[in-house]
Amino acid sequence: MFRTEICDILGIRYPIILGGMLWIGKADLVAAVSDAGGLGLLGAGGMPIEEIVEELKKVKKKTDKPFGVNIPLVRPDSDEMIQAALDNGASVIATSSGSPKKFTRMIQDQGGKVIHVVANVTFAKKSEDAGVDIIAAEGYEAGGHNGHDEITTMALIPQVSSAVKIPVIAAGGIADGRGFVAALALGAKGVQMGTRFLITHEASAHDNYKAAVINLPDNGTCITGRSTVGPTRAVKNKLTGMIVEAEHKGAKPEELFEMIGEGRSAKACVEGDCEEGSLYCGQIGGHIKELKSAGEVIVEMISEAGSIVKSLQNLV
Ligand SMILES: Cc1cc2nc3c(=O)[nH]c(=O)nc-3n(C[C@H](O)[C@H](O)[C@H](O)COP(=O)(O)O)c2cc1C
Repeated sequence: MFRTEICDILGIRYPIILGGMLWIGKADLVAAVSDAGGLGLLGAGGMPIEEIVEELKKVKKKTDKPFGVNIPLVRPDSDEMIQAALDNGASVIATSSGSPKKFTRMIQDQGGKVIHVVANVTFAKKSEDAGVDIIAAEGYEAGGHNGHDEITTMALIPQVSSAVKIPVIAAGGIADGRGFVAALALGAKGVQMGTRFLITHEASAHDNYKAAVINLPDNGTCITGRSTVGPTRAVKNKLTGMIVEAEHKGAKPEELFEMIGEGRSAKACVEGDCEEGSLYCGQIGGHIKELKSAGEVIVEMISEAGSIVKSLQNLV
């Protein structure tokens, strides 16, 4: 059921991808998603190469299914990261935050597939020209770093799907069978989720972080960073309040960078500080009320999607 070309390209059962999540998407979550028939992507953004290798060794012990690694191309050592990932069993490299042109051929020459994350039509077309296998189009609802154009998933997916010939995966605001069916209806051939998989037993986020998302209202996230690191969606807390206030007052980028700080994600993910840490989270966080296993998320999503399609057929 719901077998699309994404499944054939990536060698997976369901077209459901675990989006790369730094600090959160480690071996346990990657293996759980892949083992359940989706594609787990290691959130390697903040990891030194040795840690990537260690995590991939753990993944291989837990599953014999395909898995991949998310590599933000802003990292100066991205070429070494990619090589380490391919040498250690990753069959998919999901690149983000940069141009995939330089690396696509090198990955494909070694048998790997390339997914590139974009947030508008221009970059989707450039990625297709660069030869990537799949585009992940991420709307403004998504947790973490967002596109500058602030295009929502509902508007982005039909436009990107119509603009390119290669398959598109929808990301941003999808957490259940309803979102899955909607994404397919908009022209996507699969979905990528971050926030839903953040609220699973296998995610490496502190329990306080998961509880904060479970208790989130619909308007519980906000965007900061427009003038510095780029629009970034996270749970509203003391930290985002301070940043928003400083941004309104026209604070200099260096002051804002100091506030955002590199350790803020670790403060939330590892220490469980939900006020001064940075809790990346999508708008769909307000809809997620239960901690589940990653496998349950996938099974329930497919089953719910099947029922929805059947009930929609009754309307025609
Ligand atoms: C906690 C968190 C961390 C994330 N970290 C990354 C990352 O390191 N690299 C990346 O390309 N995307 C990152 N993302 C985006 C996800 O890969 C995914 O595309 C996005 O979460 C999809 O939208 P959703 O949050 O509405 O499911 C992150 C998202 C979240 C929620």
